[in-house]
Amino acid sequence: MAEIGKDVMKAKDLLENGGLVAIPTETVYGLAGNALNIDAVTQIFRVKNRPQFDPLIVHVPDRIRAEQYVEYIPDKAKALADHFWPGPLTLLLKRKPIIPDLVTSGLDTVGIRCPDHALTRQLLHELSFPLAAPSANPFGYVSPTQPEHVDEQLGGHIPYILDGGICPVGIESTIVGFEHDMPVIYRLGGLSVEKIEQVAGPARVQTHSTSNPKAPGQLKSHYAPSKPLILGKAEELLQQYPAHTSGLLTFQSDFNSPYQIILSPNGSLEEAAQNLFSALRGFDKMPIDYILAEPVPDTGLGRAINDRLRRAAATREA
Ligand code: TXA
Ligand code: MG
Repeated sequence: MAEIGKDVMKAKDLLENGGLVAIPTETVYGLAGNALNIDAVTQIFRVKNRPQFDPLIVHVPDRIRAEQYVEYIPDKAKALADHFWPGPLTLLLKRKPIIPDLVTSGLDTVGIRCPDHALTRQLLHELSFPLAAPSANPFGYVSPTQPEHVDEQLGGHIPYILDGGICPVGIESTIVGFEHDMPVIYRLGGLSVEKIEQVAGPARVQTHSTSNPKAPGQLKSHYAPSKPLILGKAEELLQQYPAHTSGLLTFQSDFNSPYQIILSPNGSLEEAAQNLFSALRGFDKMPIDYILAEPVPDTGLGRAINDRLRRAAATREA
């Protein structure tokens, strides 16, 4: 198992020596290594069992540092960065050659973001290089939102987990690229479409899977727990599946079901997002055969939550 602690200097030391450290962010925990060191980046892919066609996000402490790694920042991207960094927003920008091919899977853009978490911001300020960090889970599984989640799955492969507590946003960053000056959202996430459009004008949402997805988070099946997840209206699902062998995930409603998790009893989509992934992990540990889940209201963060539920549900269909 990995050591779990709050020692930023220890994390810095390990990273400077080419090692990997799990880091907290406001969205989910990341599996971080020096983005400019091929050996460190190679280890990230290996530990996650991640295919090399799936590019990594590069984390920087601020926009000034981001400018060292990208050719230019379009005006709308600048406006978004100024409004929402540090925060759950990843920008796809034309990369400079200093960013290794391995990080971007050969693409000419790099996903770059400035995370909003005190410990990780301190760490990024201490380092002279940016951190490549995918979510700290095995490829295809649910992202970790607590240090214990990381330790359970990757603890045997990494020396240190920087303990930043529970991630307050709970779902991954929103990924935004640009086509002819129009923002294109490739992954729904912790920053809502509405907020992006308020700052950058109308955006196109393009999160559906294709045979050659731009972001593998677009793959139809991703972010999936081990148990089959069935999406539908709770009342109807409970008539089709026995309650004593099914987990039930609801937004607000209480069905008095034996294996039930309510995401937000008072109906907050922010709270639901924060609880979503630990709920899915919780079901994997319960003595049940299925996870029955109802969608949440499809606005604000609800769109990203529903996106994750749909991808989790797609697992057994493919
Ligand atoms: O909230 C987050 O974004 C977390 C924390 C740790 O920062 N990171 C995260 O990384 O979710 P990961 O690797 O699990 O998901 C990154 C997604 C992948 O689907 C990847 O394909 C996409 O970002 N991506 C990265 N660079 C890209 C690029 N240049 N073009 C298109 N998609 C890119
Ligand atoms: Mg991931």
